[in-house]
Amino acid sequence: MKKLAELYAGKAKTVYTTNDPDQLILHFRNDTSAFDGEKIAQLDRKGMVNNRFNAFMMQQLEAAGIPTHFDKILSDEESLVKNLEMLPIECVVRNISTGSLVRRLGVEDGLDLEPPIFEFFLKNDELHDPMINDYHIITFNWASQPEIERMKDLTFRINDILKKLFFDAGLLLVDYKLEFGRYQGELLLGDEFTPDGCRLWDAKTREKLDKDRFRQGLGGVVEAYEEVGRRLGVELPSSKA
Ligand code: ATP
Ligand code: TYD
Repeated sequence: MKKLAELYAGKAKTVYTTNDPDQLILHFRNDTSAFDGEKIAQLDRKGMVNNRFNAFMMQQLEAAGIPTHFDKILSDEESLVKNLEMLPIECVVRNISTGSLVRRLGVEDGLDLEPPIFEFFLKNDELHDPMINDYHIITFNWASQPEIERMKDLTFRINDILKKLFFDAGLLLVDYKLEFGRYQGELLLGDEFTPDGCRLWDAKTREKLDKDRFRQGLGGVVEAYEEVGRRLGVELPSSKA
């Protein structure tokens, strides 16, 4: 597999083309951003930790029957994935109320949400990722009706799988964001599943073990990601090395 040109540099990952047009390389960088890129930092080891964390999660999901773009890890910070035509949509699921839901609706923080809440956001940094619904998606042709149904179906199946996976590791999966893309007539889960794109709380203490540590300046960001990885059984080299 030959890495060719840089296709896209996002806020946390860089995407490269390869000699196979159906495959891309995702490079997980140490860059971290929050509040639409207003707060940025370099966090030592984060790229490596997220690359391995993501590989573990994608493999768990594949094993449970979810089609994903993940192929294999190539190096500490790089993975090989299928080249998807990404939908410009973010699927958010909330199992516990917090974050923008609480700000938007004035509901109490930390409530169990039953049934879980599903929200679509438009992937558009300039517009600050506004919330959208099925009608916007159809009218503006961001995805088809069957694709909307498929995203919802896959997202709720993923929720059942991941809630249990994290709960068994003493963690609450509070909320998270997924992205899907088209590949040979099918929708696959793309992008990443790491503590950068979800909220995870310790089940007993409700301590935050995700990117909120960075957003809120709590420190120990990568250490928290590693703690989550350790509880799940993700293979990570010792941080004391
Ligand atoms: P955000 O942080 O809001 O997700 P970003 O573009 O800054 O936006 P990065 O994670 O830095 O995010 O960039 C990775 C980009 O690669 C994203 O735009 C994502 O949609 C895209 N991407 C992820 N997986 C694939 C794939 N398999 N094929 C094509 N593009 C992909
Ligand atoms: P949300 O509460 O809407 O955002 P905020 O961080 O502004 O309070 O986010 C819900 C979850 O989805 C949270 O775990 C972060 C994740 N998410 C992303 O990672 N990227 C996004 O662009 C969006 C909209 C959400």
